Amino acid sequence: MLDISPVIPVAVIDDAGTAVPVARALVAGGVAVIEVTLRTPAALDAIRRIADEVPGISVGVGTVTTPAQLEEAASAGASFVVSPGCTPRLLDAMTASGLPCLPGAATVSEMLTLLEHGFTELKFFPATAAGGLAYLRSVAAPLPGLRFCPTGGLTPETAPDYLALPNVACVGGSWLTPADAIAAGDWTTIRSLAARAAALTP
Ligand code: 3PG
Repeated sequence: MLDISPVIPVAVIDDAGTAVPVARALVAGGVAVIEVTLRTPAALDAIRRIADEVPGISVGVGTVTTPAQLEEAASAGASFVVSPGCTPRLLDAMTASGLPCLPGAATVSEMLTLLEHGFTELKFFPATAAGGLAYLRSVAAPLPGLRFCPTGGLTPETAPDYLALPNVACVGGSWLTPADAIAAGDWTTIRSLAARAAALTP
């Protein structure tokens, strides 16, 4: 699923009423994917609305930490699942869901555990704090079967450096959907940020 876009926008939606215009602005800018994080009470409703009303986008759920959350998000229409880390129960739920999943890992042992469970596309989180570019570069040789979506602390300025790494397929970031732009209904800004992100090359 990492080939869907060079950047996966990580969105925090406080008001479900903003979900559809945010998603439409991303699509208008050329980004056909959105990860809605389960960090607000509005998140599941936001996923439901985007899935129902924005046909041109793949809407996924992020910040999934329990099997119950995964199930709720899948019922709301999430078409992919992202977690910040992994537990045995969460991994079993991911496998059972049949959905494309991006489990999170920050250490080599976690990465190996995920590989053992059959996951070869991982979120590297929190990317900047956990070692950033140098860390990903260092794991490329010992873990050649893994491709990463680094997320956490990336910016439009640092994203190209990550995308240039051979084991990075795409990056994640919240910068495409700034809280102030959403609150102000400034869809033009989100559209321009998306257009800039869509032009990055993986
Ligand atoms: C995530 O959940 O993936 C991160 O919180 C997003 O990180 P960022 O806000 O630093 O882009």
